[in-house]
Amino acid sequence: MEQNSFTSTEIRRIFRLDEKLTARQTLFNAESRDEIPRSTRMARGKTQVRQWSIDQLPDIGKRFGFLSKPTTQKAVCIFTQKGGTLKSTLTYTFARAAAINGIKTVVVGLDIQASITNLMLPVMVESLTELSAVRNRPGLFHIFYEGAELADVIQKTDLPTLDVIPETASLAMLAKMIPANGSKQNPYTLFKDKLLPLLAGYDLIIFDNAPNWSPLVENALTAAQSVIAPVACDVGTYQVLDNNLAALNEFQAAFKIEWDNFIMVPTLLEKSKLSQQIYAAYVANHADAVLPVPIRRAVIGQESSALNRSVLEYDPASDLAQDYFELTKALWKKVAG
Ligand SMILES: Nc1ncnc2c1ncn2[C@@H]1O[C@H](COP(=O)(O)OP(=O)(O)OP(=O)(O)O)[C@@H](O)[C@H]1O
Ligand SMILES: [Mg+2]
Repeated sequence: MEQNSFTSTEIRRIFRLDEKLTARQTLFNAESRDEIPRSTRMARGKTQVRQWSIDQLPDIGKRFGFLSKPTTQKAVCIFTQKGGTLKSTLTYTFARAAAINGIKTVVVGLDIQASITNLMLPVMVESLTELSAVRNRPGLFHIFYEGAELADVIQKTDLPTLDVIPETASLAMLAKMIPANGSKQNPYTLFKDKLLPLLAGYDLIIFDNAPNWSPLVENALTAAQSVIAPVACDVGTYQVLDNNLAALNEFQAAFKIEWDNFIMVPTLLEKSKLSQQIYAAYVANHADAVLPVPIRRAVIGQESSALNRSVLEYDPASDLAQDYFELTKALWKKVAG
């Protein structure tokens, strides 16, 4: 069961209010002064317990959060060519973290496998016809080539500050069409020139990419000010990292793209000696790019995704939530500058 309401204890955990020495009473005082939304009361035994609903989290986050609204719009591209390094999970957790802090966020799904869409818009389909209706919804392709409006394509989530442009069946078609639309200097400027202006109402745009090179990736890399590359602390990722970084560098040089940030995030860190050595090697060999705030490998990561919550909301007291809390703060410091 996904959790849809939160007690003051849970709110304090989610926003780490103990660390900020914010007392429970401070939360209640803010409520009575209408600085945060009003809770509802639920009987628990003989006492009445205050509860806030999931859609109220962003307004609480605006007052008590750990990430603040950026002064200008930020576009972030999450990409590495290696599969399974937590790109989609990081996109999801970062997006939900920003959104519960009151930052208006949109995720753009660019992987035909639709992992981020499935995380953000779980659908209970009962037949294959229904499933294909969902997959055949209008998508980015229809905005650019069929005159669809953003409103036809964008989907809302349970957080009022978080929307998604889901992956649809027409993504493959879009990937074929877009190279013809950019300039000679850079054929991949469609998102930068046409999509970012449409998304002007958002503080944060996050592109979740497939693990392979494509015109969609090239567009996202061109549109973003910050690129975040999750790198797993395992042998497979370690072995191909230099090749993958070289390809990124070549692309960046060929089209003279300047990013404010290129950030490598170590993920799936294990206690084993090998995983720890790989982590240390990442930090030593790429000191200027690696953010030394690793995400551990933990079953709860999969569990929370399966319940369509970020681990920050699902189990805020867990070690994994602490990892993401530290990571989102460190990332935001760089991305939002
Ligand atoms: N902390 C964690 N530890 C272990 N597994 C995790 C953790 N967090 C998420 N997972 C699981 O790891 C798998 C891969 O994660 P994810 O889909 O985010 O990777 P990805 O880089 O987006 O993959 P792809 O390259 O296929 O797009 C998923 O099944 C996810 O639920
Ligand atoms: Mg993915």
